[in-house]
Amino acid sequence: MADKIVAVVGATGSQGGGLCEAILNDRNGGFACRAITRDPDKDKARALASRGAAVVRADLDDRTSLERAFAGAHGAFCVTNFWEHFSADKEKAQARNLADAARITGLKHVIWSTLEDTRKLMAPDDTRMPMLQEKYRVPHFDAKAEADAYFSGLPVTFLVTSFYWDNLYTFGMAPKKGDDGVYRWTLPMGNSRLAGIAAEDIGKVAYGIFKAGRQYVGRTVGIAGENLTIDEMGRKLSKALGIGPIEYNPVEPDAYRGFGFPGADEMGNMFQVYRDFEGEVLGARSVDAARLLNPDLMTFEQWIAKNKARIPL
Ligand SMILES: NC(=O)c1ccc[n+]([C@@H]2O[C@H](COP(=O)([O-])OP(=O)(O)OC[C@H]3O[C@@H](n4cnc5c(N)ncnc54)[C@H](OP(=O)(O)O)[C@@H]3O)[C@@H](O)[C@H]2O)c1
Repeated sequence: MADKIVAVVGATGSQGGGLCEAILNDRNGGFACRAITRDPDKDKARALASRGAAVVRADLDDRTSLERAFAGAHGAFCVTNFWEHFSADKEKAQARNLADAARITGLKHVIWSTLEDTRKLMAPDDTRMPMLQEKYRVPHFDAKAEADAYFSGLPVTFLVTSFYWDNLYTFGMAPKKGDDGVYRWTLPMGNSRLAGIAAEDIGKVAYGIFKAGRQYVGRTVGIAGENLTIDEMGRKLSKALGIGPIEYNPVEPDAYRGFGFPGADEMGNMFQVYRDFEGEVLGARSVDAARLLNPDLMTFEQWIAKNKARIPL
């Protein structure tokens, strides 16, 4: 039987890239990778093509291009990239294009990479954090959650993801060394645990979901690699990298929102959700569920060992 084609949105990125790797590394797994990008000539796309992926051009802003990219496929992995534009409305419009294209092309299994609606955790008049973009608490969470509705009626699995540890080197979120030589990690997380994951494991879990097939259709799967406090993460980093102690500097979310880097208000709100609603956030994610779907799921220590050279410490 011919391999089932999975059309992978974000194939050149973290989540989709992990899924492409998983498919390409499992030659007899019964699935083929169709990697979607806006630019088939970019290095990452060429690398995927050289390893056997079919690389197809499409743009999330252009539904017709997505229909072409999904045509004839068994399934699609759908992800949007909020951080390219910082707009909840745009993220929702792109998600709608994905869902519409999946419906029109009659896909058998769609995975929508989503997050929870953080507005449900607080009353509308709760003043602990500002509303952003008029009506969101954490726009990149809430917009994805709103977009869940577009996928309704499709054979969809909602994949609720976690904080990538990879943010330490991709988003500049690693501890910083002060002029006094001491490493400090400034985050508004209090002593709450952060649901974290190696970004590549998200794609590997998605592959497990496609392989498991129908039993995951209509389900929401929340995943994490390990839930650790910032203090615990700092101790593991300092030990594994053989550097001095990392002092955790637990600032208030308001201070963090005021740091002024692009998206500081959004990140401040997000960490405050992780801090103030630890039980709800961790309860929506399961390390066991992730490991069942991806037996190679990494712990934070394993992730550090693999990514040592990239962590700027
Ligand atoms: N960082 C975290 O901790 C974290 C945690 C949970 C969820 N997330 C969510 O993850 C999402 C980003 O996923 P990622 O980290 O896998 O992305 P990424 O590594 O930043 O790469 C972005 C991917 O999206 C594709 N893309 C962006 N705009 C596109 C468009 N208009 N048309 C077609 N493809 C487009 C890019 O493809 P080309 O450039 O090749 O076209 C690229 O493959 C964000 O929405 C974020 O909220 C992040």
